[in-house]
Amino acid sequence: MEKGVIPVKITDTTFRDGHQSLLATRMKLEDMLPIAEQMDDIGFHSMEVWGGATFDTCMRFLNEDPWERLRQLRKSIKKTKLQMLLRGQNLVGYRHYADDVVEAFVKKAIFNGIDIIRIFDALNDVRNMEKAISVTKKEGGHAQGTISYTVSPFHNLEYYQKLAQTLKDMGADSICIKDMAGIITPQMAFDLVKVLKEQVKLPVQLHCHYTSGMASMAYYKAVEAGVDVLDCAISSIALSTSQPAAETIVASLQGTPYDSGLDLNKLSVAAEYFKNVRAKYKKFDVSNGTVDVNVLRYQIPGGMISNFISQLQQQNALDKLPQVLEEVPRVREDFGFPPLVTPSSQIVGAQAVLNVLLGERYKMATTETKNYMKGLYGRPPAPVNEEVRKKIIGEEQPVNTRPADLLEPQMEEARKEIGFYAETEEDVLSYVMFPQVGKKFLEERLAGKVKVDFSLVGNEKNINHYPV
Ligand code: CO
Repeated sequence: MEKGVIPVKITDTTFRDGHQSLLATRMKLEDMLPIAEQMDDIGFHSMEVWGGATFDTCMRFLNEDPWERLRQLRKSIKKTKLQMLLRGQNLVGYRHYADDVVEAFVKKAIFNGIDIIRIFDALNDVRNMEKAISVTKKEGGHAQGTISYTVSPFHNLEYYQKLAQTLKDMGADSICIKDMAGIITPQMAFDLVKVLKEQVKLPVQLHCHYTSGMASMAYYKAVEAGVDVLDCAISSIALSTSQPAAETIVASLQGTPYDSGLDLNKLSVAAEYFKNVRAKYKKFDVSNGTVDVNVLRYQIPGGMISNFISQLQQQNALDKLPQVLEEVPRVREDFGFPPLVTPSSQIVGAQAVLNVLLGERYKMATTETKNYMKGLYGRPPAPVNEEVRKKIIGEEQPVNTRPADLLEPQMEEARKEIGFYAETEEDVLSYVMFPQVGKKFLEERLAGKVKVDFSLVGNEKNINHYPV
């Protein structure tokens, strides 16, 4: 056994990615709070509880204030670091926001209780991550730089090492390998973790989805290569399109130098609890309990395929699904091999459907495809197909600047627009990121339909900074 190995740490994703991946992000705060203190007691490295799609979903479907959710969780979870997922310059929305919005949002996320911010960009364009990283650092948070993992002729160890090094140079405290589609092989997990640990010399955290069935094997190989933290969910909210089960990983490392030290009994109490919670959200449950072979064949994330099915059904063209699945990798190649994650997965997916339904490739392009080709989302990982670009945007030259440099500040204007509906700066942020949904939500809150404990706003006890 190698000398100097340290225990592997576990991040629990049950309160964010777990239910986002399995239950359409519908888990309510009322189903988290009763178990929050027990979860806090388990000894996780961190708990991912906020960001991603949870912010939008709180206001859009659950009549819950996302900021209130964070404050309530912070109140119950006193020992464990709280973590969130941030889409770089897109924050928790679906388009780029101006720098003043990024600044205000990150500041308020940390102020209300977040310790670790995982920052990613769908194109791995570091210019879309740098602002969020620098504000996180300035506010005393832990900035985790993210590699969105994908497979293409351009994505090799050297590419990822360079990307991680750039993130480190920008101030990242650790690196996350984010395998949203669940396509990293055990050997690649080993090689990638090893190269990052040896060359970039930052803590490495591995985030896999179980979709293809390879994730637990990838985790074990990553452990052998020296990974620091693994993302897991409590077993009853794990597997399928969610993360590997915490219990499996904990048990498999017992008796090795990597032993996480977590108590399986405590984990099973939580598992029992979430079994009942999951049953409550049955109508949103997307798991069919099997391995998704399409992910292995086409490297298309599970969520994308279910989108195709509903889009094609609406057009009465479900028989075209095989052609669409074949078209996605071709569109992705034309687009310079972007990783398939929000929002690039939607852009590539919608264009692939259009190409198949119209019977001619790029006969029509979506607005998002046009903006993508104009460089408004950032720089694709590899050169785009020039012929395709000409067909879509003609002679127009793509922009070469950092996309957010083209945006005017937005906070002041938003503050005026939303007026008395906003009781806090946090409310202004909810509105600026989601103008329609946010406004409707704030109106309903004013009408007394949403419960908020304002005594927690700005409560110093909520702020819990940890050494990074
Ligand atoms: Co994920």
